[in-house]
Amino acid sequence: MNTRELFYRYLAQTSSFPLALEIERAEGMYMYGRDGKKYLDLISGISVSALGHRHPEIIRSVKDQLDHYMHLMVYGEFVQSPQVELARLLTDNLPPELDNVYLVNSGSEAVEGALKLAKRYTGRHNVVAFTNAYHGSSHGSLSVTGSEPFKRAFRPLLPNVYHIPFGDQASLELVDENTACVIAETIQGEAGAVVPGEAFMKALRGRCDQTGALLILDEIQAGLGRTGKLWAFEHYGIVPDILTLAKGLGGGLPLGAFIAPRHIMSVLTSEPVLGHITTFGGNAVCAAAAGACLGVIIRDRLWLNARAQGEIIKKQLSSSEYLKVRGKGLMVAVELESPEVCRELIVKCLERGLLTDWFLFADNCMRIAPPLLITEKEVLRACVIILDSVKEIYS
Ligand SMILES: Cc1ncc(COP(=O)(O)O)c(C=O)c1O
Repeated sequence: MNTRELFYRYLAQTSSFPLALEIERAEGMYMYGRDGKKYLDLISGISVSALGHRHPEIIRSVKDQLDHYMHLMVYGEFVQSPQVELARLLTDNLPPELDNVYLVNSGSEAVEGALKLAKRYTGRHNVVAFTNAYHGSSHGSLSVTGSEPFKRAFRPLLPNVYHIPFGDQASLELVDENTACVIAETIQGEAGAVVPGEAFMKALRGRCDQTGALLILDEIQAGLGRTGKLWAFEHYGIVPDILTLAKGLGGGLPLGAFIAPRHIMSVLTSEPVLGHITTFGGNAVCAAAAGACLGVIIRDRLWLNARAQGEIIKKQLSSSEYLKVRGKGLMVAVELESPEVCRELIVKCLERGLLTDWFLFADNCMRIAPPLLITEKEVLRACVIILDSVKEIYS
């Protein structure tokens, strides 16, 4: 059996239609197939490779850490400098109240930690979340995810979770004195880059303040410069009580974080002691990669490039009568007539060496979320490929 056959035989499959590209190596903005084909990466492994593939500063930092140590001890016991430096870099670049960082392994785990923290801190039981939100695939994070088809088969999930429509101010009445927290993606990812209005986000913050519910903003997809600001909540002039990060945080290695004010986070130290435990969370090599990645994003103000290139994508693709474009910065959804047309477009782009994807809860939308370092030349080339493919579909 060749590697492709072994993949289908021995690796658990989660759909009957994986892309199943076989990539030999990846560098910068490109992936190279075993057949020699070159692909421009327009999705960054779903918003992970913020600096593209194998960025030299990340590689250097990882190699340096490998020469010192990999795993020493479970999270929270030893003083490990890559963790400390990353936490300081994060908090130095966040609003002053978000000054305490808990490092985990993934986005789902960051959400789990944030939900537990909110319940423990407030002593309340209810959680409010939004329809079409995606927060992860573990039991807790799936419970707050807002898609019935994804959840039905796995019930019972967490009790006391209530979903309301994203963007609907009137529904915020459901947040009350029994609500431990409201969890929202600042900009919804898997719903197809859904950008809420400022009035709604301000009302959400206001309702949480009024009732004492904590506001968790999930920026696992939208954070770290992707939407044209370092943090997506900056678009709205609000600050969450707890922020969750992952994906791009690790610079290509697995890392997540939930971040909160120290007085909130400190409840995890007692009743019970070790209120949240992780063996690998904040792994030294991953933390070193994250420090390098975040350092470059901040030093080079990459959110400005995300904003500029996002505008070019919108302008170019909006020229087609068949495409509706939405999103912010480099978190873009291109809406098509139907899921079938979307699929056809993705396949045609792939044939022409352009890697795109669809969204979990919006299969009529094509995902555009390239590395933040993408250049204008690469963006224009990608847009030409997409527009040519659309023309071919409708000719
Ligand atoms: C907004 C958001 N939250 C949470 C998650 C879960 O992250 P992970 O897949 O790392 O568990 C994702 C993953 O797509 C996400 O987009």
